[in-house]
Amino acid sequence: MDDITALILDDHASFRRGFARLDDAKDPEQMRAVWEPLALHLEIHAEAEERILYPHLLRRGGDDAEDESLDAIRDHNKIRDAIAESRRHDVGTDPWWAAVWQARRENTEHLGEEEDEGLPDFRRHASDELRAELGAQWLAFYGEHPSGRGLTFRDKDPQRYVASFQPHDGDSQA
Ligand SMILES: [Fe+2]
Repeated sequence: MDDITALILDDHASFRRGFARLDDAKDPEQMRAVWEPLALHLEIHAEAEERILYPHLLRRGGDDAEDESLDAIRDHNKIRDAIAESRRHDVGTDPWWAAVWQARRENTEHLGEEEDEGLPDFRRHASDELRAELGAQWLAFYGEHPSGRGLTFRDKDPQRYVASFQPHDGDSQA
């Protein structure tokens, strides 16, 4: 069984390794070779969490699930924005590094919050079966979108995102 929270931690470790590798890149070619796959992985990962993890955290998590999800979407937007900014500049230039560093800082902060708040909340409230089922969905999602094919990476309105997974007025008597 692949628990979705373990798969997410695997991705987080690979993001930290990717940014560390960037420290050792010696020229723009090496920088590009590290950054492009890392940036794409960050984007696919955020999309996968928004489709597979957070809807279930919102339905099943504890009292803080809404705040945790709002934070996560806001952070994902900041990471996406920094990646988009990096693509507006030549690799290895100062503004490129500034954007990459922005992505790194936002990502590091986000991983810490997710690991200390959202993921523990989900583990405490979700069944083993659900964690395994979502793990299978997670792997299938990556398999269905090799190199992000078929996905668009857009910022989402945090409030609207969260509201879309909560019961609407009038649904309660159903
Ligand atoms: Fe995330």
